[in-house]
Amino acid sequence: MSQAKASAPAKIILFGEHFVVYGNPAILAAIDKRISVHARTLFHNDDKIVIRSDIGVAGEYKQNGDFFNLLEGGVEAKAVLDPLCGAVMQVLSTRNEKKVGIEVSILSNVPLGIGLGSSAASCVATVAAVDLLFEKNTSRQHVCEIAIESERQIHKRTSGADCYVSTFGGLIQYQGKSKSFEKIETKRSLPLVVASTGIKHKTSDLVIAVNRFKEENKTVFDSLAEQARDICSQAWAAIESGNGDRIGELMNENQILLQQIGISHERVHDIINICNKAGAIGAKITGAGGGGAIVALASSKLESIKIASQLKEAGYPSFEVEIDYKGLSA
Ligand code: MEV
Repeated sequence: MSQAKASAPAKIILFGEHFVVYGNPAILAAIDKRISVHARTLFHNDDKIVIRSDIGVAGEYKQNGDFFNLLEGGVEAKAVLDPLCGAVMQVLSTRNEKKVGIEVSILSNVPLGIGLGSSAASCVATVAAVDLLFEKNTSRQHVCEIAIESERQIHKRTSGADCYVSTFGGLIQYQGKSKSFEKIETKRSLPLVVASTGIKHKTSDLVIAVNRFKEENKTVFDSLAEQARDICSQAWAAIESGNGDRIGELMNENQILLQQIGISHERVHDIINICNKAGAIGAKITGAGGGGAIVALASSKLESIKIASQLKEAGYPSFEVEIDYKGLSA
């Protein structure tokens, strides 16, 4: 095949971010915002990898990795492009394809750098699209593993949770220790709202900051990690039984733990206050934090519309999200 397409969803973390890096469980959901990737072979440039994204970055690489030419974007562009080039190179190496040029074009409707997993979804969809060029079917598990390796280029300690939920979709509990997951069934829909603080972050920087906190406060961190584990196991039960009020309370408890490890922000607190006043039953950071995004749970679809509209009135970009049960589509 000379052209192929794939897409993968963004994600929210409902419970357990950061602690999952140290082997704890986390509860995540894929959401109805996607990254789409179009891959094609370059017949006249068999040693080139070209990556373009509609977020305004593009670059070309030589396959031996010793040449990079920035085609579009500023100083930050290379950090966005490198893992994607890494994803292409990994697929080529797994396929034992040495003499094929590849161009990858990425279309995103996922807000960037606020903890919604745009980088993981880009890696997952890129691996799947490039792999499809070689026609033999690859399992989702294999796509996910290559995507995690690629993400590791910019986020060394990645737990793998984001790539898993983007690949397999749905609502899952991811086990940081065994790098495995289980789907969670729920008796009620979860009317969720995501709001952006407008403050972008690098996940790897925040993970490093939390690691520093852990090293300097071992006993405190161990106790917080134990509480996070307990919250996750109670949250699973509350989600399964459809107990919205309990899910909300546990989200609020999880937020306190995230504040204690130092990744919250005054704009996060402002957003959470607005959510609470608008009737949210729980609200917390989702993802790496340090600004980023928050997720709030409403008691009904109507209430979630009200919460999103009050956040927008206060100047915070916000939207309601649905859970995506499809995951990777290729
Ligand atoms: C980032 O979306 C989630 C973190 O827990 C990091 C990770 O799991 O790799 C902060």
